[in-house]
Amino acid sequence: MSANGPRVLVVPQVGWAAAVAAELAARLVERPSLRVCLPTGGTPTPVYAALAKAVRAGRCSLAAATVVLLDEWVGLAPGDPARCDVRLQGELLDHLETPPAFVRIGVDAADLAAAVARHDAAAAGLDLAVVGLGMNGHIGFNEPGSSPSGATRVVALQPVTITAATAQYGARSAPSGGVTVGFARLLAAQEVWLLVTGERKAAVLRQALEGPEDAACPASLLRRHPRLTVFADEAAAAQLRGI
Ligand code: GLP
Repeated sequence: MSANGPRVLVVPQVGWAAAVAAELAARLVERPSLRVCLPTGGTPTPVYAALAKAVRAGRCSLAAATVVLLDEWVGLAPGDPARCDVRLQGELLDHLETPPAFVRIGVDAADLAAAVARHDAAAAGLDLAVVGLGMNGHIGFNEPGSSPSGATRVVALQPVTITAATAQYGARSAPSGGVTVGFARLLAAQEVWLLVTGERKAAVLRQALEGPEDAACPASLLRRHPRLTVFADEAAAAQLRGI
């Protein structure tokens, strides 16, 4: 863990998304050319709605920013509603008059390895890495066992993650794998934010923040970062003892 430990902000559910969006807006005002890695999933959806609203209200802009996608399924057809690029486009970018540069992951390329290497280069030098928390502690698609020095790469997914693609995100077929920005790039970002909401994440959040710092719970590896902020709602934070 860093000397001071992570900054853990616990916000009531009703104001949680607005609080995260307000901090994002502040970063964009400070640095309009923000290079930010963004996740998809249910957790950030309301944050993106609130951020788009802030942009429309003139409180910030993403026009000069670069958004690097955190992860992507392999084996889902372009346009599949569960695709991470489709979700981020639909939940945020399509709502902006002047969208940011958007770096998707080229999972449809004939040469997947080359596309992954390009994405790894794009994920270098991030100002901010925003990530969600998987039910098994995964970050992006860095599943349990991932190395803290791991590169952006193609990964095999755990059954629970594959099931989530269809059951939770409405994928039209089961993905065959994933591509994720690796911990090497995430931990090299200037700042890391972990977004966590809901009672179902309470046990895994506790493990991530108060359990051993171990690859068995990949999220615990984020504690190595000197500027980690955890944005949790009250339900997700319910099992934390150290706050
Ligand atoms: C998914 C994604 C992650 C996401 C996590 C949590 O599988 N690969 O990037 O952060 O699981 O998703 P949710 O926010 O829907 O709980």
